Amino acid sequence: MAESTDQDAVARVYDRYAVSEYERLDRSLLNRAEFALTADLLDEYVVRPGAEVLDAAAGPGRYAEYLLDKGCRVGLSDLSAESLRLFEERVRSDAVLFCRTGSATDLGWLAPESFDAVLLMGPLYHLVTHDERLAALREARRVLRPGGILVAAYISPYRNLVEAVEAGDLREVERLSGGGPTMHLGMQQYRGWPGAAQEALSEAGFEVLRTRNLQGLAARLSPETIEGQEPEEFFAMLRATCELPDLLGATLHFVCVARVAQNPAR
Ligand SMILES: C[S@@+](CC[C@H](N)C(=O)[O-])C[C@H]1O[C@@H](n2cnc3c(N)ncnc32)[C@H](O)[C@@H]1O
Repeated sequence: MAESTDQDAVARVYDRYAVSEYERLDRSLLNRAEFALTADLLDEYVVRPGAEVLDAAAGPGRYAEYLLDKGCRVGLSDLSAESLRLFEERVRSDAVLFCRTGSATDLGWLAPESFDAVLLMGPLYHLVTHDERLAALREARRVLRPGGILVAAYISPYRNLVEAVEAGDLREVERLSGGGPTMHLGMQQYRGWPGAAQEALSEAGFEVLRTRNLQGLAARLSPETIEGQEPEEFFAMLRATCELPDLLGATLHFVCVARVAQNPAR
């Protein structure tokens, strides 16, 4: 069984990479696709004039900024103080509710039922134990109003699995087949399949509305092949295939949109 997450180590890494994390979503066409396909879901489920949104792992705030531009009121928290500092340096708006350092597993400083939507885009691939991920999901549910929306990002084991096949490492293929911890950026992270994510969301009292992969068919294409594409056509091809049930986990990242369940499964 995985040991619990060293959250101080996660904070240190993102403090160090805060600037590059801010630039990440513009770095390549594949990164821009990740942003565009996520923004589609934010537009559909989260964006409402004056909607109160908690971005519980905001990093330097690319998605928070997007929601502010669309008329939402956004509170940001993250393990990385430096990431939040960069956001505050860049963005001045009365619609920013707060910027506070802390873990998504403990939102005790926030009142129950105080947000229309929560973004959990980071903790679910950094928290290495099921109990920690469940704690983050339950905290999100607690602070959401009835019918509130959760947007949860995950990283699939797909790439690690293909790399293990390339390396001829059967033991690693067997281990990752069910998802599990892996090393990335010098820290332990978690890789999980959409089915496991959907089960955990339901265990935490959510009804899953949508799951979509964010790179999908392009996950294993070379950067040269991708950069040769016309952006809008490339995004359209990904949009046409990102919710095919049989392809959901064949990706780097995927996102689930879930609603607070009226009658939780458990
Ligand atoms: C790859 S960045 C993503 C930032 C942003 N949400 C996005 O999608 O572009 C992952 C972020 O998750 C944050 N994070 C990881 N585990 C966390 C936790 N338990 N609580 C709060 N933030 C966490 C990290 O500090 C980092 O800023």
